[in-house]
Amino acid sequence: MEGLTGEMANASTVKIENMSKHFKTTAALGNISLEIFPREIFGLLGPNGSGKTTLLRILCTLMLPDPGHRKGGTCKVLGYDLLKEQAEIRKKIGYVPQQDALYGDLSALDNLILFSTPYFFNRTEQRTRVDDLLNQVLLFDRRHDLVKTFSGGMKKRLSIACALVHNPRVLFLDEVTVGLDTSLRHEIWGLLKEQKKHSSIVITTHYIPEAEQYCDRVALMLKGSILDIGSPGDLIRKHEPAANLEEVMLAYEKIRLAPQKKPRRS
Ligand SMILES: Nc1ncnc2c1ncn2[C@@H]1O[C@H](COP(=O)(O)OP(=O)(O)OP(=O)(O)O)[C@@H](O)[C@H]1O
Ligand SMILES: [Mg+2]
Repeated sequence: MEGLTGEMANASTVKIENMSKHFKTTAALGNISLEIFPREIFGLLGPNGSGKTTLLRILCTLMLPDPGHRKGGTCKVLGYDLLKEQAEIRKKIGYVPQQDALYGDLSALDNLILFSTPYFFNRTEQRTRVDDLLNQVLLFDRRHDLVKTFSGGMKKRLSIACALVHNPRVLFLDEVTVGLDTSLRHEIWGLLKEQKKHSSIVITTHYIPEAEQYCDRVALMLKGSILDIGSPGDLIRKHEPAANLEEVMLAYEKIRLAPQKKPRRS
């Protein structure tokens, strides 16, 4: 492998070792290591403030990790260095933020045309891709309607379509199912299940039963640390008598958040 750069150098989609992120004195991520592989749905799970969004934003090159990892750690997406090769990474990833970044006063079609224009020279190819995506997210019939008239689920589906315009190798999604009803949430997961045939999917969610159902592997996070990584089935077996992933997470939280006993004075 020596001498190869970028995707040829590394079969992992994401490979980080000993990465940290501080905001002044707050350790949002503390020395974490993680590897994510092609064509898997990988879930980042954990309570509020555990560092999920921070990790996702670093992997999308929207934020830099602490420089300390240069002293021997690895920090790569698709084989490209997160500090030195951000432009290469940006060309090959898609990102769906928690808050929609759509233009409400434009139609679904115009939003997709706007987001896809930087990636296409050929306008016919662009229009074919946009129409395919509108069909894929079940919005073709509503393509001329203004986005501000859309329901939450429709906006989420359109946001995912916008992130897919350039066929990204990895799709990062932050809490995309939050606030949606059960059937819409499963609709989004169905869409991601289909998309994982073409890309790796990295998703943060608070809906642990859904992560258990749809994620191939998950990382359980708490207070900026990764507590465990594995397939939902393996993690549940490892932590018997936990009956499901939610119970595994709760058991970890109980241990980590329990007040430390003060040493007795003699
Ligand atoms: N821009 C920032 N400036 C200062 N502190 C921040 C910043 N972004 C995140 N933090 C802190 O980093 C920690 C992790 O936050 P983060 O948003 O990554 O958590 P999260 O797991 O995504 O939480 P949630 O489930 O609520 O979305 C928190 O203590 C948060 O206050
Ligand atoms: Mg978050």
